[in-house]
Amino acid sequence: MFNLLFSVVTFVTAVSAVPTTRKKRQAPAGVPQFVLDYAPLVWLHSAEQYFPSDIAAQVSNSIPQVNFAAVPNVPNPLDLNNLDSLSKDVYLTSKDDITKNPTWIKGVKPDASGKTNNAVTAAVIVNDKGGGNVDAFYMYFYAYNWGGTVLGLQQLQFGNHVGDWEHNMIRFSNSKPQHIWYSQHSNGQAFKYDVVHKNGLRPIAFSSNGSHANYAISGTHDHTIPNFNLPGGVLEDYTNEGTLWDPLKSAYFYSFSAGENKFTPYDSSGATPVNYLYFKGRWGDQEYPTSDKRQVKLFGQAKYSSGPTGPSDKQLNRSKVCPDNGKDCILRTILVPKGLDELNELEADIV
Ligand SMILES: *[C@@H]1O[C@H](CO)[C@@H](O)[C@H](O)[C@H]1NC(C)=O
Ligand SMILES: *[C@@H]1O[C@H](CO)[C@@H](O)[C@H](O)[C@H]1NC(C)=O
Repeated sequence: MFNLLFSVVTFVTAVSAVPTTRKKRQAPAGVPQFVLDYAPLVWLHSAEQYFPSDIAAQVSNSIPQVNFAAVPNVPNPLDLNNLDSLSKDVYLTSKDDITKNPTWIKGVKPDASGKTNNAVTAAVIVNDKGGGNVDAFYMYFYAYNWGGTVLGLQQLQFGNHVGDWEHNMIRFSNSKPQHIWYSQHSNGQAFKYDVVHKNGLRPIAFSSNGSHANYAISGTHDHTIPNFNLPGGVLEDYTNEGTLWDPLKSAYFYSFSAGENKFTPYDSSGATPVNYLYFKGRWGDQEYPTSDKRQVKLFGQAKYSSGPTGPSDKQLNRSKVCPDNGKDCILRTILVPKGLDELNELEADIV
């Protein structure tokens, strides 16, 4: 099914590229070819309601607030070029009541070629550390995260938030992919590039329904919450081959210098916004207090939690493939569901 769909996609692309015989490069000059050749493709879930979303639209649909009060004297209009003027305690807060499901939080469903039309939904950030060592981050943006239900009960629903940044990171050595990181909630999983599912050279990520955690396989995944030990099966993420998204088709491309803490767009025309990458605040509403009638708190977990920080807070200069968060960094050499990780650890390198 996947291969069939993909050959159709390739065929359509080839036809639209006529009469040029060479395939059009989908990125500005200077982006290393291997960063494009090995870029992940993402399967969104068949029941997904909250698709990848335009990064700039998040800003135009928000007002900056601190502790639920509007920030005075903000640039007008606020956009991706001036977002860095806001302080780190700012929450980009939805202008609309998100419990009413405004259209913009639903994002843009990729078309048959995998493209999110009229919406730039990804940012590719390349950290060239020298000596042939390159980490490429593929950042995925969604306007809304639907957190899921406990035991499938609609009334036991939590972990929703406005704004959702997820990512894969591929570590390259001399232009060859070595490992790939899949972000999942507060942590994630790392695999050897050789073992993950691919389409041609491109690794496959499965984005879970609503929460957009990235998995290497389709199916059901236990969804753990930090500091909250739920028994297996109580809260789960679901992935399948629903809609194929090619994040490269609508992305901004940057290089990142860790030494200078500087992002540089590969596109030198000035058309690619960059300053938003220095915004240290949150890309969604602050967790509503329980006095807000939209909020429900169960076992200390909020139905509506705070929006996330942006790409610059994803540890862009890692020493390991995993972010440094006190947990073991397991470089998995076989594809197994998360619950079977104990078995996997016997086979994998823990670094
Ligand atoms: C998928 O997410 C939507 C809400 O975003 C939810 O209503 C639906 O039940 C979910 N389906 C599955 C299979 O998780
Ligand atoms: C970036 O990470 C490398 C290790 O991968 C380290 O040697 C270097 O000092 C780091 N640079 C900065 C500015 O932290």
